[in-house]
Amino acid sequence: MLVTLTKILEPAKRGGYAVIAPDFLSINMLKHYLAVAEKYSTPIIASYPPLPIDRFRRFNHWTYKLRALCDAASIPVCLHLDHGKNPQTCIKAIKAGFTSVMIDASVFDLKQNIEMTRQVVQAARKVGISVEAEIGHVGSNMRGIEGPTDTGFLTDPNQAGCFVEHTDVDALAVSIGTQHGHYKGTPDIDFKRLEDIRSFVNIPLVLHGGSGTGEENIRRTVENGIHKINVFTDIIKPYLQATASGFNPFSGKGIRMSQREVVDIILKKYFIISGSLGKAVG
Ligand code: 13P
Repeated sequence: MLVTLTKILEPAKRGGYAVIAPDFLSINMLKHYLAVAEKYSTPIIASYPPLPIDRFRRFNHWTYKLRALCDAASIPVCLHLDHGKNPQTCIKAIKAGFTSVMIDASVFDLKQNIEMTRQVVQAARKVGISVEAEIGHVGSNMRGIEGPTDTGFLTDPNQAGCFVEHTDVDALAVSIGTQHGHYKGTPDIDFKRLEDIRSFVNIPLVLHGGSGTGEENIRRTVENGIHKINVFTDIIKPYLQATASGFNPFSGKGIRMSQREVVDIILKKYFIISGSLGKAVG
């Protein structure tokens, strides 16, 4: 069933787990995510990446189809716009029927970020949907979901508190050492910073750049207030290889694996380490 971000994150916050938010690039990919989430009775945040939806000709019609698929699922599903770069894009998604949008004005100064976020929150409140925003900036170390390489900067805990107070957002993405894309090794997570942010902010926190973060790191972030984890790089590479190579994309040899099987393996792993596996029951 289709729900808002707030609705899916409230039980996660109460229960001390995080909901996985994988980006999908096609209706087929969304169907794979929903099927796997249903198989494991796990809530999911189906995220649409920051593609230029402003130039999408039949965006409303397409969103209608996405909504129908999400609503027909037996588990809670939030249909979320990932990294909306300006209020206009977010408002377009809100009007089309997304149940949550992210306004990512994190590259702007605090005042501008607050202003842009408030515009989106105002539009979202009119139709009862949720808003995620970002403070500090999660960079990108490859051409991935966030576009070309860009350098991040860490979240200032004080600013995070001030930002939430002035915007009334429902979830907050924070920069604590992860990046979008691949890593060499595992990232150094600033757990002390996360703890400090937590002391200023009482809404669910979001970890971007979930791929390659490492199981132990993810478990610790969830224990310290992360309730939504975005994952894309770890899925898309084997997902595309599954059709292109004819090999098992994890071992590089053996029997061909379907895209649905690839999604099953990766999502199940993330459902387990985030603590969300089976949480759609009851
Ligand atoms: P990764 O591709 O590093 O998993 O990041 C995904 C993400 O944060 C999307 O917003």
